[in-house]
Order: sequence, then structure tokens, then C-alpha cells
Amino acid sequence: MSSARGSIVIGGSSGVGRALVQQLAARGDRVLAIARDLRDLEALQQDCRLRYGTTIQIMAIDVAAADFDAAAFTESCIGSIGPITQLFVPIGAIHADDRGVPAAGLLEQLAIINYLRPAQILGSFCKYFSANEEGHAMIFTSIATAAPRGNNAAYAAAKAGLEFYCRALQHHFADSRVMIQICALGYVDTTMSFGMKLLFPAARPEAVARFAMQMSEGRKRFAYFPRFWWPITSLLKMLPWPIYKRLHF
Ligand SMILES: NC(=O)c1ccc[n+]([C@@H]2O[C@H](COP(=O)([O-])OP(=O)(O)OC[C@H]3O[C@@H](n4cnc5c(N)ncnc54)[C@H](OP(=O)(O)O)[C@@H]3O)[C@@H](O)[C@H]2O)c1
Repeated sequence: MSSARGSIVIGGSSGVGRALVQQLAARGDRVLAIARDLRDLEALQQDCRLRYGTTIQIMAIDVAAADFDAAAFTESCIGSIGPITQLFVPIGAIHADDRGVPAAGLLEQLAIINYLRPAQILGSFCKYFSANEEGHAMIFTSIATAAPRGNNAAYAAAKAGLEFYCRALQHHFADSRVMIQICALGYVDTTMSFGMKLLFPAARPEAVARFAMQMSEGRKRFAYFPRFWWPITSLLKMLPWPIYKRLHF
């Protein structure tokens, strides 16, 4: 088996995940890209073959399915590309009806894809990394967690839960060689943000992927990208309620 790094991207067929897969493939990693749509994955596989001369592995699976089993999933990922040392989880979903009080079914659906499954997958891979005494995982959250608002409440709450869980695991694995990082994103130019009226320009997914790959070489536990979101979110957190409640964003 090749000694190249084994990297897995869950949500690897579009947006940030797709750009990550391309840059990991260009670096020469053994890459496994995961998403639901097999045709998108096959197109990406072909793209990596033509551009970088690399054959990436692909797996079409719906991680939100009711019978999803994170431990079995982890085993099948390792079975597909061999030892893995890097996990990226740029998975997530928003919904136009996530305004005010979302319907119970929608709340559950957004909690599963934005919190429960990423948390289960992260936990399962961290156990594997811990047993191998090495591993790095990166979770993608959102600036939405910094300033709760009426829009995207279910999405933001799920991402906030995910951030909290990651911070708890960072503490648990602090004395080990298992590294968990949180990359909180501002607007990114992907299908998720398509057609939205945005307050600031959206970052390119390729720029996010470059930043994430650089971050993964270091020991930073949390970062905003683009970085200008840090002062903005800090300011929002400091606003007194009588002012904050008047903001429409
Ligand atoms: N775009 C933004 O403006 C923005 C802002 C802040 C934070 N973020 C966060 O950044 C991350 C990347 O976002 P993005 O805009 O790149 O997303 P995206 O373009 O919508 O890509 C999401 C990826 O996840 C896959 N996926 C979705 N549901 C899945 C499921 N049930 N099972 C397996 N795969 C699934 C999708 O492929 P399939 O549809 O084929 O499954 C796709 O590959 C997400 O965590 C998002 O919440 C994005």
C-alpha cells in the first residue's frame, strides 16, 4: 500500500468539499470522497484523473439515512482506501423554511445532517485515530453560531451543538496525537448560498480549501474564514439586547 496520506472528505462532491478533494488529490494523498450523488462523484473522479493523474476513491452514501451506523461506516472507509490520518467533514444543509419556529420534521432533519451525523462520524474516527495514535479531523461550522437570529435557527443551533461537541472532544483528546479543528465559515460561493442576498462578498470554495489544508498542518483549534469575520462576530456578541434585537440580517 502507498505511504501517501489517507484523507477522507465527507460531503466531497460539491462546494468546499469538492475543492478539498481536488487539492488533496493534487498533493498526492490517497483520497476518499463521499456524498449521495454517484454521478457527481464519478465526474469528480474523472476530473482528478485528468488534471492530476490521481485516482481518487468514491463512495455514494446518505449519511442522514435512519439506519446509518458510524462504526460500520468508518470500517468501510478504511476498507476502501486503507489507513486514514485526515478526516474533513464539510457536510451540511440549510432550508428555506428554517425561519422562526421550524416544523418539527425540519428541525429534526437539520439537526441530523448538521449536528448528529457529523458528531457521530467525528466520534467514530477519533476512536480509530486514538487507537492508531495519530489522526486529524476538521469540522466545518458557520458564523451563524456566533449570533443567533430568527433565520436559519435550526441550522445555527445544530452547528453550535457541533462546535460544542468538538470542543469537548478537543479537551478529551488534549494529551493525545488526535487533533480536532473547527473551521467556522462566512459566506462561501457554493450551491448552499446560491441566490442569497449577502452582506459581504462570498469566498471561493478553493480559497476555503487552501485555508483548511494550511490549518490542518498546524495546531489551531478554531478559526474563522475569511478572517474578517472574527471582529464582526465579536462585535455582534457584545451588542446589548435592545440594539441586537433591532438588527435584521
Ligand atoms: N456555503 C456557505 O455560504 C456556507 C457558509 C457557512 C458555513 N458553511 C458550511 O460549510 C460546509 C460546506 O458547505 P458547502 O457550501 O460547500 O456545501 P454544499 O456545496 O451544499 O456541499 C455539501 C456536500 O455534502 C454532501 N451531502 C449533503 N447531504 C449529504 C448526506 N445526507 N449524505 C452524504 N453527503 C451529503 C453533498 O453532496 P450530495 O448532495 O450529493 O449528497 C455535497 O457534496 C458545510 O458544513 C456548511 O454548513 C457553508
